[in-house]
Amino acid sequence: MNVKNIIDKLFKEHDATDEELLYLLDNITFTEQEYLSEKADIIRRENYDNKVYMRGLIEFTNFCKRDCAYCGIRRSNKNADRYRLTFDQIIECVDLGDKLGYKTYVLQGGEDDYFTDEKMIEIIKEIKRRHPKNAITLSLGERSYESYKKMYEAGADRYLLRHETASKELYESLHPGASFEERRECLKNLKEIGYQAGAGFMVGLPNQTNSDLVKDLRFVKTFKPAMCGIGPFIPQKDTPLGNEKGGTLQKTVIMLALVRLLLPDVLLPATTALGSIDPLGREKGIKAGGNVVMPNLSPTDVRDKYALYDGKICTGDEAAECRMCIEGRMRRFGYEVEVGRGDNINWSKEK
Ligand code: SAM
Ligand code: FES
Repeated sequence: MNVKNIIDKLFKEHDATDEELLYLLDNITFTEQEYLSEKADIIRRENYDNKVYMRGLIEFTNFCKRDCAYCGIRRSNKNADRYRLTFDQIIECVDLGDKLGYKTYVLQGGEDDYFTDEKMIEIIKEIKRRHPKNAITLSLGERSYESYKKMYEAGADRYLLRHETASKELYESLHPGASFEERRECLKNLKEIGYQAGAGFMVGLPNQTNSDLVKDLRFVKTFKPAMCGIGPFIPQKDTPLGNEKGGTLQKTVIMLALVRLLLPDVLLPATTALGSIDPLGREKGIKAGGNVVMPNLSPTDVRDKYALYDGKICTGDEAAECRMCIEGRMRRFGYEVEVGRGDNINWSKEK
């Protein structure tokens, strides 16, 4: 086997065997990494040109009933300073986002029972009433089929639910009391209901092996999500994994490029976590096939409270500053920010 041949095969056929993917992850050199990123960039340009889609991220609650071992807003973290945005605050963020040119809003939060289906439907309907052409992405964790369906019928377009890791053993060690199968069932339900569904995983979790990452690639290739969120694991000091080592820029960029080659039309964010471990992390993610950025629209006084991991960027910046900053960053690297809704190109959904 030869890494360059495997990259060429992925470039042409958009698939490789698990053995080839593992060989690539185990053996890839720096020069081959550059080659991989170049190939991934060609594929993203064939599908999305040099456009980078922007999503305005609204982190509207950091209350969470789950206890994921890696996450700073896990319920056992007594040091987390909890907050919830009000209905009016959420709508203000969306209106500001619209003025700044964001045509997609990502409403993300911990799993917070305060936000019942009724409350979510009220929020979704009001956003759609004010901005009928804009898209709403939800990221609220695991809910029932009926709950997902009601929110979809109220007007939500997309849903992000990372599978976190496709290794059952690793998943279960990180999520006490949670079920690997149920999370996958949720993803299946979201797709079936009609959402543009987003899966995704963390890179560099403690005890994660290259074989585990091959499982992530295979899951993504088989499930074919419209979006895929990939970011490095970054330790948060008040969690059980606070003293562990985090994921690297290099490995995360390799995984982004591989996912672009496996799923040419996927919407692939260069995440805030990637920008937090390297000053040019997001730019490097875009150069390796990424085509989405998610600048923060949350009010500045709550930004640092949505502390999933330590060292998160942009916690002090106003939404308008992030908007300008992102545009400049993308331009400098030869990409253009696109202010449309930015649907997956193979999505032909009439609502
Ligand atoms: N509650 C929703 C859910 O479970 O999908 C959305 C919010 S959750 C905090 C969003 C994502 O943050 C998770 O899917 C996870 O991958 C990521 N995340 C949490 N803690 C992290 C950490 N320490 N480092 C990197 N990413 C982290
Ligand atoms: Fe927030 Fe650059 S994206 S300051």
